[in-house]
Amino acid sequence: MSSTEFALALESHPLASLEPVEVAFVLGSGLSVFADAVDAEYDAPFGELPEFPGVGEVAGHRGRLVVGTIAGRRVAVFAGRVHRYQGLSARDAAWTARLAASLGAHTLVVTNAAGGVGSRLATGGLVLITDHLNLQGDSPLAGWPGPAGGTPFVPLGDAYDPRLRAAAHEAADSLGIALGEGVYAAVLGPNYETPAEVRALGLAGADMVGMSTVPEVIAARALGMRVLGISLVTNVAGDAHLSHDEVLAAGRAATDDLMRLLPAILERL
Ligand code: HPA
Repeated sequence: MSSTEFALALESHPLASLEPVEVAFVLGSGLSVFADAVDAEYDAPFGELPEFPGVGEVAGHRGRLVVGTIAGRRVAVFAGRVHRYQGLSARDAAWTARLAASLGAHTLVVTNAAGGVGSRLATGGLVLITDHLNLQGDSPLAGWPGPAGGTPFVPLGDAYDPRLRAAAHEAADSLGIALGEGVYAAVLGPNYETPAEVRALGLAGADMVGMSTVPEVIAARALGMRVLGISLVTNVAGDAHLSHDEVLAAGRAATDDLMRLLPAILERL
């Protein structure tokens, strides 16, 4: 497989005729209202996009891509994503990041809904991802020979760009929005965690747990993009009565903060 295949070929797709974007956003469960902030020149459901790997859509994850401008900046906004738990490989689960690279993005901002591991992070809070644990048993780079002249042994020591994190804190401070920091553990799902798994995640250094994001981040780094990650803590991980509807509702409740924060971050990128 060549590097162009990894980045996704647009060929004669209508997306190929658009001017390159600067920044791409991936919006997680219940967080997709930011897509409506785009002054759109292209807006299509995922099913119409190149090499969309989606199967068995889960409510709230049905996706669309909006390309256009926000405050004059060229952006691509993925409202939704694809997940490993749909039975996809990590490479397919990184489809948003691979398409973002094809659209010209130099920066990828990923958001997700996550469970809080332990009691340090308040439910309903926004948390900057400082690092991750890949517990999905797969990498989007497995089987990829690497970029032309390169290797797939991509360093992840600074996967979540320190300068972008500083910009995000500055944006949050300017708006009076509390923005924590934490380590995100990606599990396969789609079941939520047992109490024993949550204890193990805590011992391993995780602050949040979710079922997405990490394949996209690894792919983005392999494709030379800078990455910023933000989790919304929708619940306490391991809660016996947790439901997907509850996660979506918590996402919607934090939408106001995220809608203010993302444009303020974009201004500073
Ligand atoms: N666990 C895994 N993924 C999640 C959770 C959780 O508790 N909440 C939202 N996504």
